[in-house]
Amino acid sequence: MILLDGKKTSADIKEEIALEVRDLKSKGADTPHLAAIIVGDDGASITYVNAKVKACELVGFESTLIRLPDDTNEEDLLNEIAILNIDKDIDGFIVQLPLPKHIDEQKILMAINPDKDVDGFHPTNVGKMALNLPTFISATPFGILELLERYKVETSGKHVVVLGRSHIVGSPMSILLSQKRKVGNATVTMCHSRTKNLKEITLQADIIIAAIGIPEFLKADMIKDHVTVIDVGITRLEDATKKSGFRLVGDVAFDEVSKKSDFITPVPGGVGPMTIAMLLKNTLLACQRKS
Ligand code: GUN
Repeated sequence: MILLDGKKTSADIKEEIALEVRDLKSKGADTPHLAAIIVGDDGASITYVNAKVKACELVGFESTLIRLPDDTNEEDLLNEIAILNIDKDIDGFIVQLPLPKHIDEQKILMAINPDKDVDGFHPTNVGKMALNLPTFISATPFGILELLERYKVETSGKHVVVLGRSHIVGSPMSILLSQKRKVGNATVTMCHSRTKNLKEITLQADIIIAAIGIPEFLKADMIKDHVTVIDVGITRLEDATKKSGFRLVGDVAFDEVSKKSDFITPVPGGVGPMTIAMLLKNTLLACQRKS
C-alpha cells in the first residue's frame, strides 16, 4: 500500500509556486494577491480560511482577509464582492462556504467576476470546466487530479466510482475524470443517496472517490483488492482525549480499507492540504493571465 501523501505533495507544490513568485518579483511583475471573505464565526470555516491566508504568506503572495459578522445582509456582501471585482490589486478571491442561511449562496457566487473566481464556482467557469476548456478548476477536484498524476495512478480505462454529487466535489470530479485529459479517460459511475445496490457498484471500482460526509462509510467488504481510494471526507468528531476536543475522520474506514488498497489518502494529510495548494495555483494563474 502506498500512502498518497497530500501534506508532502502540497508542500512540493507550494515550493514550486514560491519559486515562480520569486521569479515574478525579480522581473518587477505584480505579486499574486488573494482575498477571502468569510461571513460569521463558524470554527471550521475560520480554521480553513486562516490556513489559506497562512499559505499565501508561505509562498510570498499578498493576502487580504475580510471578516463580516454573521448578520451581514446579502446586499452588503454583494457590495464587498463588487469592490473586489474591480480592485486591480486583487488577482483572485473566494467567499468561504457555507454562508449563513439568510444569504442566497448561488446569487453570491454568480456575482463574482469569473476572471477572479479562483474557487471555480461561477457557472461560467463550471461550464468551461464541463466543456474541457481552460478555466479555474475548483481546488478539491484539482488537488485530487494532481495527487493522482504525481503518484502516477493510471486512470485511463479504469472504472472510477464517485460517492457523492456535491457541486464542490462529486459532480466536477465525475466530469473531469471522464474527460479526455492527462488524468482522465476513466469510466465513471457517480453514486448518491438514492443509488440502489451501492455495494455491487463499489465492488467493481478500480478507483473510489469518497465525498459524502459520512464518517467511515466505506468499509473493506465494499471494495475489491488493489483499489485506489481517495477520501475527501473530513468530519469533526468530539474526542475528549484530544487537546482540540475533536478528531478528524474521513469517509473511509482507513484501517481495514488500507489493507486491500494499492493507493490511499490519509485523513488528515491527504486531500485537505492539496486543496489549499491548488487554490494558490489558481491565484498564480489569475495573476499571470492578467499580465
Ligand atoms: N467550503 C468548503 N470547501 C470550500 C472551498 O473550496 N471554497 C470555499 N470558498 N468554501 C469552501
